[in-house]
Amino acid sequence: PTTPAPATPFPKAELHLHIEGTLEPGLAFALAERNGVTLPYATEDELRRAYSFSDLQSFLNLYYALMAVLRTEDDFADLTHAYLARAQAQGVRHAEIFFDPQAHTSRGVPIGTVIGGLTRALDTAEERYGITTRLIMCFLRDESAESALATFEAARPYLDRITAVGLDSAEVGHPPSKFKEVYALAREAGLKCVAHAGEEGPPAYVWEALDVLGVDRIDHGVRCLEDPDLVARLVADQVPLTVCPLSNVRLRVIDELADHPLPAMLDAGLLVTVNSDDPAYFGGYADDNFTAVRDALDLDEETLRTLARNSFRASFLDEATRETYL
Ligand code: HPA
Ligand code: ZN
Repeated sequence: PTTPAPATPFPKAELHLHIEGTLEPGLAFALAERNGVTLPYATEDELRRAYSFSDLQSFLNLYYALMAVLRTEDDFADLTHAYLARAQAQGVRHAEIFFDPQAHTSRGVPIGTVIGGLTRALDTAEERYGITTRLIMCFLRDESAESALATFEAARPYLDRITAVGLDSAEVGHPPSKFKEVYALAREAGLKCVAHAGEEGPPAYVWEALDVLGVDRIDHGVRCLEDPDLVARLVADQVPLTVCPLSNVRLRVIDELADHPLPAMLDAGLLVTVNSDDPAYFGGYADDNFTAVRDALDLDEETLRTLARNSFRASFLDEATRETYL
């Protein structure tokens, strides 16, 4: 079958995508039925009506609750196939995919089940969907540093399938420095490092992610604009920022898309990319985010192509493969 062309018809890389955030209502109900799980919503429409968020935490509450339907390797594989099919239709040619092992192990789902299901689908991604992929294992920052360390040790048998570690969940009150030790272990093991910082949290958290955790990229990072010295640092080192415009509006990080600082960030010389975060919850996948910022911020074709090129520059693809997209 032929897929319709995306509105922005150039290759792009998705660098900020939580696989659990791609769980669409239809699949959630299908998996609930398959696993005998009762959701606190009677219908898909009723569930969709719950997608009205006041901040990050109000979203996270629903995000974690819906994960109850993900139980078996097949569930994780089905979720990933559904994402890859949508990503292909949106012009995504490379995807670096977050997953939250603690959100599953805490419910009694073994980490091997999670990684087994994800990798089974990802192993078909190039051939079936024309998408290269990487996996990024995230630690939940509102859990303890010890829990992150235990998660890293539990993942050791699978590290050949994992490209990087990340940090997500409720930001304020959980600074990056809390995870210094596990990031040091990850770097020792040869993994890349990223962290959510400067979404709801202050610029100080971005500094810590850079200087204490030694990250290669910052996820979100929009609040860096409050600190000119931080902007200068990010520009000088060309540290990529994986910005998520539709997410920012839905989680009230930004009032309206028309007010989004994306153009200011580009003008400042920051290496910004456009990403979808949790597309099932925030109203759009990669191309949807590109077209939304194009329309709301009146971005021209050249700017959109710059953003798409940035996504490959900022990726963890090997240099030679990256070059083919630049
Ligand atoms: N921020 C923090 N944690 C998350 C997010 C986010 O946007 N999405 C899923 N987990
Ligand atoms: Zn995120």
